[in-house]
Amino acid sequence: MLAGGSGTRLRPITYTSAKQLVPLANRPILFFGLEAIAAAGITEVGIIVGETHQAIRDVVGDGSALGINVTFIQQDAPKGLAHAVLIAQDFLGDDPFVMYLGDNLVVGGITAFVEEFTAERPDAMVLLTKVDNPQSFGVAELAADGSLVRLVEKPKDPPSDLALVGVYLFDPCIHEAVRAIEPSGRGELEITDAIQWLIEHGHTVRPHILTSPWIDTGKLQDLLEANRIVLDAISRDIRGDVDDASKVEGKVAIAEGAVVRESTIRGPAVIGAGAHSERTYVGPFSSVGNGCRLVDAEIEHSVVLDGARIDGVQRIVDSLIGRDAKISRTVELPAALRLMIGDDSEISIPLS
Ligand code: DAU
Repeated sequence: MLAGGSGTRLRPITYTSAKQLVPLANRPILFFGLEAIAAAGITEVGIIVGETHQAIRDVVGDGSALGINVTFIQQDAPKGLAHAVLIAQDFLGDDPFVMYLGDNLVVGGITAFVEEFTAERPDAMVLLTKVDNPQSFGVAELAADGSLVRLVEKPKDPPSDLALVGVYLFDPCIHEAVRAIEPSGRGELEITDAIQWLIEHGHTVRPHILTSPWIDTGKLQDLLEANRIVLDAISRDIRGDVDDASKVEGKVAIAEGAVVRESTIRGPAVIGAGAHSERTYVGPFSSVGNGCRLVDAEIEHSVVLDGARIDGVQRIVDSLIGRDAKISRTVELPAALRLMIGDDSEISIPLS
């Protein structure tokens, strides 16, 4: 499980937190991958961690809550996905293994692929899916018979629209490949190049085209989409304190200790433990984190991280709001925006 890297596309959130810990329906993305691995019957999990290792160690612990036994493997710098395999060699030994990118969400899990790999035992198996922007991914070229001809990382001129999904299954022969390749133009040891090396050296690499949704949550729009998919699958579960003046519609989970007053919560949505909602509308596809405080607010299709406060601000949509961030309305003059926003933040203001 790869949970290192730098998360540049989700700045400023990733200045202070690991991108694999950004929540979907209030649970870290990483947990969905770890659960998929556990569901496939894999219990020994090595997690590659980088500079955000402490936060990941704190959240995952020894893995027992997820039914797995975790070993953390420290990567000194994000030197590439194949570098992660290189430093995990002692942990992996001579076993076949799954490599899972910690910011990926594969709806429906990976059990079927693990079973297919175990039954057929190719040297490697890659998952592919059609995308609109293959330039942003590893891309596969298939022959007319469906076999894999070539893989290329983030090509300017993609040979197809089939992207490599961040789940790979390998036989131990991958260790020779990761030792043989050189860093790419972006200075990383690319797993794509290591798999290409396997193809060129006569190993069998089996492609499997995914039909279920897959999302690389590295960018805001993709993260919101992943949150949408996960929220769509939740069940109604009201544990917090909701007054009679509030309406809670559809699939809504309100955690223990949350307080909802004179508000409308329209699912699918989750409200975290200890959150407070007063005269507020929380619309579909929203996640409100633990301890958030929303007063006279309206929010929809957004992710609000723990401890954030929104006071008197209506119609926040398509947004990701960081931990302990504060957004409020003021009567102070001049009537103007007053901002203290983090580096690389994005704010979009409608025409009035
Ligand atoms: O998401 C699928 C794509 O993932 C594939 O199509 C590409 O072929 C593959 O190279 C990869 O591309 P990304 O540019 O999206 O990878 P990213 O740098 O986002 O890293 C993926 C995960 O691995 C992320 O959770 C961070 C972690 N990572 C990354 C690097 C470079 C590490 O743990 N160590 C690393 O050195």
